[in-house]
Amino acid sequence: MLSLKNIHYHPSTAEDPILRDLCLESNIGKITIVRGPSGSGKTTLVEVISGLSGYQRGVITWNGKTLNARQRRWLCGLVFQFPERYFLGLSVAQELRLGHKKLTTENQISTLNKVGLNNLDLKKPPESLSGGQQRRLAIAVQLLRNPKVLLLDEPTAGLDWSVRNGVIELLSKLKDKQTILIVTHEPELFENLNADCYELSEGQLIPQTKKSINQTIDARFTN
Ligand SMILES: Nc1ncnc2c1ncn2[C@@H]1O[C@H](COP(=O)(O)OP(=O)(O)OP(=O)(O)O)[C@@H](O)[C@H]1O
Ligand SMILES: [Mg+2]
Repeated sequence: MLSLKNIHYHPSTAEDPILRDLCLESNIGKITIVRGPSGSGKTTLVEVISGLSGYQRGVITWNGKTLNARQRRWLCGLVFQFPERYFLGLSVAQELRLGHKKLTTENQISTLNKVGLNNLDLKKPPESLSGGQQRRLAIAVQLLRNPKVLLLDEPTAGLDWSVRNGVIELLSKLKDKQTILIVTHEPELFENLNADCYELSEGQLIPQTKKSINQTIDARFTN
């Protein structure tokens, strides 16, 4: 279990703290979703969990063991918002082999199969794939590191409606192998996942029920 207890993060460059005594628990088998408006600290939260940012107070544990930033970088795979912008490989095979020089073609194919990219031409340039395929490839790149925790920053952002559901279904399948935490400003897309939902507000997480999510959506349409 991933656990955050009273995490307080106030970078010296910010006027106010971004995370204030934030607590969170996330388990394998059930996706955790954190929603919040732009600027509420969603990206900051996944950066802190994954060890890319430090924090001033609190403790982050994995199965009861406190982890430092370096250990969290090993524990977590972080799929950035618009991950396709950071592809470096000239082909799908090259992208998968970055940092995994000895990865066999067989392993490349089995990893791609895990994310639903069956029969993909390994020689294709990543940028020639469709938006949904690129997002799946970015997830595959993280899965190669076999992270215990998969963090996704706005995994459906910028995708066509037709491919969004495919990405959501994929994450639903992966949840039994990895602890998954998604930050998003589109929680309604994930409402059929039976996930644990939280609202990030003023640096703290407020548990959300299905009813409160629907009220938020209704308010968005009536205001
Ligand atoms: N290192 C930093 N120094 C100063 N301010 C920061 C720093 N990191 C983040 N912030 C500020 O903290 C707030 C939260 O930023 P963050 O990017 O985490 O929000 P977000 O919820 O991911 O927003 P979006 O939905 O637009 O991606 C913003 O006001 C941002 O400007
Ligand atoms: Mg963000």
